[in-house]
Amino acid sequence: MAFELAYSFCFLLLLLQRPFYTFAQPPMNISLGSSLIAQDSNSFWASPSGDFAFGFRKIGDNGGFLLAIWFDKIPEKTIVWSANGNNLVAKGSTVQLTEDGQFLLSDIATRRQVWIASSSGTGVSHAAMLDNGNFVLANGNSINSWESFDNPTDTILPAQTLHQRSILFAPYTQTNYSKGRFQFTLQSDGNAVLYTTYFPLDTPNSAYWSTLTQGSGFQVVFNLSGFIYVTARDGSMLYMISPSTVSTKDYYQRATLEYDGVFRHYIYPKSSTSSSVKRAWSALSLTPLNICTVILEGTGGGACGFNSLCRNDDGGPSCHCPYGYTYVDPNDVLKGCKQNFISQRCDDAALETDLFYLQEMLNTDWAYSANYEYFQPVTEDWCRQTCLGDCFCGIAFYKNQTCWKKSIPLSNGRIDPSVDWKALIKIRIDNSTSRQAGQDSTKKSSSASIVHGLVFMVIGMLVVFLTLAVTFFVVRRNYFIKPKVSQLSPFIQGINLRCFTYMELKEATNGFMEELGRGAFGTVFKGVLASDNGKFVAVKRLDTMFREGDHPEFKAEVSGIGRTNHRNLVQLLGFCDEGHHRILVYEFMSNGSLNSFLFGERSRLHWYLRRQIALGIARGLLYLHEDCSSQIIHCDIKPENILLDDSFTVRIADFGLAKLLKADQTQTITAIRGTKGYVAPEWLTSLPVTVKVDVYSFGILLLEIICCRKNFEEAKNEKEMVLADWAFNCYDQRKLHLLLENDDEAKDNIKEMAKYVTIALWCIQQDPSLRPTMKDVTHILEGTVEISIPVLKPSS
Ligand SMILES: *[C@@H]1O[C@H](CO)[C@@H](O)[C@H](O)[C@H]1NC(C)=O
Ligand SMILES: *[C@@H]1O[C@H](CO)[C@@H](O)[C@H](O)[C@H]1NC(C)=O
Ligand SMILES: *[C@@H]1O[C@H](CO)[C@@H](O)[C@H](O)[C@H]1NC(C)=O
Ligand SMILES: *[C@@H]1O[C@H](CO)[C@@H](O)[C@H](O)[C@H]1NC(C)=O
Ligand SMILES: *[C@@H]1O[C@H](CO)[C@@H](O)[C@H](O)[C@H]1NC(C)=O
Repeated sequence: MAFELAYSFCFLLLLLQRPFYTFAQPPMNISLGSSLIAQDSNSFWASPSGDFAFGFRKIGDNGGFLLAIWFDKIPEKTIVWSANGNNLVAKGSTVQLTEDGQFLLSDIATRRQVWIASSSGTGVSHAAMLDNGNFVLANGNSINSWESFDNPTDTILPAQTLHQRSILFAPYTQTNYSKGRFQFTLQSDGNAVLYTTYFPLDTPNSAYWSTLTQGSGFQVVFNLSGFIYVTARDGSMLYMISPSTVSTKDYYQRATLEYDGVFRHYIYPKSSTSSSVKRAWSALSLTPLNICTVILEGTGGGACGFNSLCRNDDGGPSCHCPYGYTYVDPNDVLKGCKQNFISQRCDDAALETDLFYLQEMLNTDWAYSANYEYFQPVTEDWCRQTCLGDCFCGIAFYKNQTCWKKSIPLSNGRIDPSVDWKALIKIRIDNSTSRQAGQDSTKKSSSASIVHGLVFMVIGMLVVFLTLAVTFFVVRRNYFIKPKVSQLSPFIQGINLRCFTYMELKEATNGFMEELGRGAFGTVFKGVLASDNGKFVAVKRLDTMFREGDHPEFKAEVSGIGRTNHRNLVQLLGFCDEGHHRILVYEFMSNGSLNSFLFGERSRLHWYLRRQIALGIARGLLYLHEDCSSQIIHCDIKPENILLDDSFTVRIADFGLAKLLKADQTQTITAIRGTKGYVAPEWLTSLPVTVKVDVYSFGILLLEIICCRKNFEEAKNEKEMVLADWAFNCYDQRKLHLLLENDDEAKDNIKEMAKYVTIALWCIQQDPSLRPTMKDVTHILEGTVEISIPVLKPSS
């Protein structure tokens, strides 16, 4: 009785001293000879209050068992300490407090001892799971010969102290408790430091955060009010790592160095009645605040691994692969990213230049990745060309006439809004759309590779779109593969045009099911050629009446179109001329037409890309007007007829058809040809139609490309409704910035933009003879020739 009273009295004293134990019961002793067996349930020792438990936890569905301490009263059963993260044990293994006081874990599968509590055995009388989360081996004098608090893994708890030379290791992943890539240590010099490690070794690599308390730091304390700080030897606070806003009475607390290298201080409401919010761990603080920018390793990949990009949000970092790259291991994103294409050959890089393009990424940085080459002053075009022609170049950076080149692998990558240079990452153009060698007549021109190097940045929607397109491709392709072997159809002599049967095309389009677009001459459908490895095609069915006897003219016109060959024109692959069916088969363009990019449906194209698109259209038109065997006037230049392949190269569609229909449609050609808004004024008069009608349409289209708006928008105020008039006003009053509502990128390039507006206004002069030729336009856009522009008049 007396003993019991005394005990209670002592315990009361203890209570007064340590508020955390207010409701705690005396620890339940685990006596010598006790053991636990790893099994699916109930193999643990709980603390008296039940807050914590010590025992086995099963990791993964068919994984092994982890000897651990966890929060037992919450459904997450969050683990705060573990013994064998690197070495899970099989079901049936035991942890045992031996009669002679040794505490050890052995694996039944290997019959090996995988863990032992150091210095156990020396006078140990019992063990106990305490209510603060500390598991202790005590001797008779209640002095602990071993504590989990002195041997932390990745977490510290209130009442726990880190001594000098203590190290917390981040786990490998959220579900793999073996040692990961980061550590937090209170060094023997008193500085508390976060390090990356030379994974898989434990040795520290580069420090990314520290308390700068070397010389004075003594302990890292997590006190019972929930504050985490570095103290001096006399107990005074030197550095506050994380203050607390809530009490440890109402909230569970822990601070964990997580797999992503962030040391987070978490709280969890103990009772659900205290608030209506869902009970869960929430982070009070993150250390460091932005890991993406503080990790700068000379060796190693950085916060997210090689070639990867780290983005910091409220919850901490996330890792992302750049365009053209995928995770090395999707289950372990910190492993970095790999190219999902075959890299450029070095022995014959010049030939492969055409097979790559540069994709633009803004706000991205790969800090500390050495620049192996540097150029200044150069243009962006020059910078792009030099990277495309260099097999070592994985990425180029451009800013203010300066060009840097870096090679693969890239390290310390991050997404950072304060970065104001352009990153141009080199990616192989998908094989399926790369053009065959020799097909491209302009290939040898000096400027061709600039266009080959078209770079784009289309975020969000487009990525989704491409993914869908690929998925669709795969699905359709599988659907269409038939065991049928089609005999090679005859070709028109001299040119590479295939003659299809109507049945073949009906099958390819699944009975003319999926409509891609509808124009003056007919409807375009998507098709898949089973006879050509499931290649995608655009199948245009001409609606216009043909007589049975028209075959020779049709063939002549088709071979005219077939003979055109330019990288900015959609290539005609074949045709069908059977009975009254007249069908043309073209290459399929994965990115569809320009209008969806200009007028809001998809994210706005970058200014650089819009410039390249304008140049591509000009070059395509120049070819039609001057360079092909017989001049072709397009007659219907508009965004819907400007297609983009998957490297965003311009491909003009729907040309050469005006002539095809002229024979029996002379009277109505003006009515069916041309589109309101893009039609030159001379259509409506008796003036002859010349190539200058295309120049006019090009001018209108160029204004749309510059301003990313339609040539006529009713919703605007009267002054701005007609783009051509509004542009002329702005030009006349030298207020061109008014044309660019919130296009900062174009505003940054206002001088260049002014040049483009001037060209556009020149192209839409009322009098056809005052308009430039496409050759003039191309020269000015290329910047190769100085051409003086005449005084411009308003277009109407
Ligand atoms: C636990 O063991 C110690 C030492 O053997 C003893 O003094 C103490 O009374 C025991 N406590 C309980 C609750 O059994
Ligand atoms: C955890 O990761 C390590 C390091 O990659 C690996 O060796 C180990 O097999 C993983 N453990 C589990 C349970 O997946
Ligand atoms: C914990 O530390 C904070 C800050 O130093 C202090 O205000 C608080 O009183 C401490 N609480 C306890 C229980 O020591
Ligand atoms: C661009 O570079 C030039 C020369 O190096 C320098 O004088 C100029 O200030 C830079 N401009 C900007 C905007 O950084
Ligand atoms: C792309 O081309 C390369 C080289 O010609 C080839 O090895 C690779 O398999 C092709 N990839 C695809 C997806 O067709």
